[in-house]
Amino acid sequence: MKIFLDTADLNEIRKGAALGSVDGITTNPSLIAKQGRDFKEMIMEITTIIDGPISAEVTTLTKEEMLRDGREYAKWQKNIVVKLPTTREGVEACKILSDEGIRINMTLCFSPMQALLVAKAGAWCVSPFVGRLDDISSDGVELVSQIVHIYQNYDYKTQVLAASMRTPLHVLQCALAGAHIATMPFKVFDALYDHPLTDKGLKNFLADWEKAKKDMAKSKGK
Ligand code: G3P
Repeated sequence: MKIFLDTADLNEIRKGAALGSVDGITTNPSLIAKQGRDFKEMIMEITTIIDGPISAEVTTLTKEEMLRDGREYAKWQKNIVVKLPTTREGVEACKILSDEGIRINMTLCFSPMQALLVAKAGAWCVSPFVGRLDDISSDGVELVSQIVHIYQNYDYKTQVLAASMRTPLHVLQCALAGAHIATMPFKVFDALYDHPLTDKGLKNFLADWEKAKKDMAKSKGK
């Protein structure tokens, strides 16, 4: 499963890139707004740090506007993926842009039938929002599982990008469900590295090694 960071924070992106396991970046208007900087400038800077897919989301609602903005973003850099909302106009725009060879990430997907429609429209990936479904007492991971199943049934090439990951458990469950990609905040990504038994085991190994070295030095001195 590919790992994307869901952030527009350049420090987090740099830290993630240095760790070597980040395959791409997703952004959304809320994440970009938090940085308080020009949209194009931000996206272009991200493309200089990560050479995998970088999702840039439109903030327009009509098909014509989405086509205009999608075509524009796709020209900025070859690894930009245009992110469109899963609405009627968004799915229409997805079909047209995908036919032109532009990679589309269909976002705000909350049902398996929306996912079927975007696959038929040729989307490069679909983003089911796991955490936001859990927030309303629905089962986000189950949605990911259903989409993976439907895509396998009909051999759709659209990838399932599990979004709105709130915990390492979400990431595990989406990997088990067969998601192709999971996108997560830096904090969740960073937590994937940790296990208390790794730390405890390492501490014991090093303590044993230090003791053995001292014992060996002592016996040589005898
Ligand atoms: O970028 C889309 C998605 O990952 C947002 O996550 O935590 O705001 O529901 P969240």
